[in-house]
Order: sequence, then C-alpha cells, then structure tokens
Amino acid sequence: MEYCNLIKIIKQKKELNSLSDEFVLGIIKIYLKNEMPKLLENQEWLNNTKNKYFRTVVKNVRKNLREVHGAFKKKGYDKKYKLLDEIKSLNDFEGHAKILKLHTSTAERLKNYIEIYGKILEKVYKVESLLDLGAGLNPLSIPFMDFKVGTYYAVEVAEDDVEFINAYFKKFNIKGHAFVKDLTYVDNLPEVDVCFMFKLLDTLESLKKDVTKELISKVKAKWLVVSFATKSLGGRKVISKKRTSWFKKIIKAYEYDTFEVDNEYFFVVRKDL
Ligand SMILES: C[S@@+](CC[C@H](N)C(=O)[O-])C[C@H]1O[C@@H](n2cnc3c(N)ncnc32)[C@H](O)[C@@H]1O
Repeated sequence: MEYCNLIKIIKQKKELNSLSDEFVLGIIKIYLKNEMPKLLENQEWLNNTKNKYFRTVVKNVRKNLREVHGAFKKKGYDKKYKLLDEIKSLNDFEGHAKILKLHTSTAERLKNYIEIYGKILEKVYKVESLLDLGAGLNPLSIPFMDFKVGTYYAVEVAEDDVEFINAYFKKFNIKGHAFVKDLTYVDNLPEVDVCFMFKLLDTLESLKKDVTKELISKVKAKWLVVSFATKSLGGRKVISKKRTSWFKKIIKAYEYDTFEVDNEYFFVVRKDL
C-alpha cells in the first residue's frame, strides 16, 4: 500500500499509536481531499520522507488525529492497567475514579456522574442492554450507575481503549464486549435499550459531515442519550448551547428531553428502534 510508510510515521507519536491503520488512512485522505487535492493525483511525494509535502502532511494529520483522539488522554494514561490491578471491587469508587481521571471527558464528568445517571433514569426505565459509542473510558463509570446494565457494548476507534475495557469487563465478570470500529461508517451495531453518544458527535461531524443523521437513523435503540461539551477542552472557553441547533433539527421527529450539568448538555431521545 502506497500510504504504509506515511501511516507508520504518523503513528510514531505515542498518543496516536493505538489508532488503527485504516482509520489513520481515512483521516489522511480527508485531509488531502480538503487541503492538498493535487497530492492525491501525483503520489511521488509518498516515497520521500524528507519531502516538504510529506512533512506537512505528517504534521497536519497528526494535529487532526490529536483533536479526534489523542488530546483526551491525560498524563499517566499508560498507568491504567496498574490502576485496574489495584481496584478491589465494583464498589471501589476511589479506584475507579483514579482511572476515570486519565481521560479528559470522564475526568470532567466525574463529580457529576451520579446526577447524570439519576437524570437519565428519570426518562429511561429499562437498561438491560447498553451501547456506548466512542466510549473512551466511560464504561469504568459503571459503579456510578444506579441501574444494573445487563449487557454493556462499547465501541471505540482506539485499539488500546478497547483492550482495556475488555480487560475491565473480564476482571469484574461484567457481561459486555468492547470492539474497534470507525463510526464514520455505520453498520452492524447491536440492538439495545439505550445508546450513549457522549461528547462524540462534534468529533464525528468534523471527520464526515452529516454522519450524525445516518448514525441516528441506523442505531437500533429505544433511547439515545447524547451529550455535547459546553466548555472547550480543559474548560477554558464557553461553548454556546445554540451550537446544538443542527442536532435538534435531526431529532425533531422524536420526543426528547434535555438537561445540563457543569460542562455538558444532554439530550435523552425516545427513538424506539
Ligand atoms: C470526547 S471523547 C468522549 C469519550 C466518551 N464518550 C466520554 O464522553 O467519556 C471522544 C471519543 O470518541 C472516539 N472517537 C473519535 N472518532 C471516532 C470514530 N470515528 N469512531 C469511533 N470512535 C471515535 C475518540 O477516540 C474518543 O475516545
């Protein structure tokens, strides 16, 4: 494959090395199509790593990939297996919190988990099966749920997150399965009671415009719980809730409720498969 070497070099950065080659290739192609379409036609630049085009593509695709995935990993992300070993039981909240603090999204949500799951349960009365899309480390918040999940499916583009979630499920005998998938291509998702899409859709839209519409129509779930950040990564800038008006248009045919916690705005949508 012509792009093999380019992908290998892009993935040399530690925070990006768990992304699948196919996913990185997809991001390279989107970047080239939008920013440097001529490089798609004449591919000689791919044979010379010192070439200025090669170096520009490496730099900018890495930047885009960090926005999609790498930026969420906090310092010490590699310690998660050690921390998992130290968790004694599903009631060990402190042990779970140490891991949840390693990913920006779960770290920011940590103090609100009980409130969030309580609010979700006011609208959703059955969570026998749950599908968590773009899960990150969110499955580690199971102890904060005041409902018992029968089967927990988690989908992530990052292979190391998927391995880790499966190790967690195994350690505590949780009926669940995590799998690697690029959600810009929607197919074969399990049918469930509830589907979480926490802080995912802005990222997916940046990869493929209008993918949300397809995703919402294809996900087979009775309820969707979708969230958006109301503060930028790290909490510095306020992001207006009006920015979700594009999403409201997509779900206008369904009944839905909203609620808000510190940095996050939630939609609970009654979809009925
Ligand atoms: C902002 S984080 C949110 C993580 C988690 N949902 C939470 O809120 O705690 C977005 C997650 O989506 C994942 N992601 C990004 N693009 C994806 C794609 N195309 N397919 C599947 N997952 C993706 C990233 O790896 C990242 O873990």
